[in-house]
Amino acid sequence: MTKSYEKICSTLKATSELAHKFAKLIEKDGCFINLYGEIGAGKTAFVKEVAKAIGITEKVTSPSFVILNEYHSANIPVYHFDLYRLENEGVKTIHEELSEYSEGRQITFVEWAEFSQNQIPFDHIKINVTYEDDDSRKYTFTGMGEKSDKIVEKLSQLS
Ligand SMILES: Nc1ncnc2c1ncn2[C@@H]1O[C@H](COP(=O)(O)OP(=O)(O)OP(=O)(O)O)[C@@H](O)[C@H]1O
Ligand SMILES: [Mg+2]
Repeated sequence: MTKSYEKICSTLKATSELAHKFAKLIEKDGCFINLYGEIGAGKTAFVKEVAKAIGITEKVTSPSFVILNEYHSANIPVYHFDLYRLENEGVKTIHEELSEYSEGRQITFVEWAEFSQNQIPFDHIKINVTYEDDDSRKYTFTGMGEKSDKIVEKLSQLS
């Protein structure tokens, strides 16, 4: 059954705490995460906090202009895609590329996953971020597969 968990974070600190809990659940085995939400919602902010929690020491920036940033300073590699600037041609080739980043032990985040046209056939977590007001954001986690369902269920039990 599809698991969903919703959390309102009324401050950036609350988002950081949520990201730290999530990081603990994925840092051993890895995870593929699609992030949805409007400009400035808090997708990159969440990725930064997860990266910090697992021990990434490099500065985590938005990969908007390069499509992919990667970080190798923690015990598990982190790949951070931003599909916002993909041209039509890019969308056609991105599915294969993303599939490669779904295999093996790593954490992969995809911002603006809408641009992959939602054709992600493998197990992953969807995180939808919505702007509530000022410093308040809602993060909704949905498991899209057996492994991800378990992670989302554990996250809901932690909070
Ligand atoms: N509770 C909160 N959680 C997350 N971010 C918050 C919160 N309160 C304030 N912010 C601020 O909101 C902004 C979110 O910007 P961020 O770059 O994460 O958005 P984004 O969803 O990645 O947008 P884009 O589509 O442009 O990449 C940051 O400046 C962050 O500090
Ligand atoms: Mg961003």
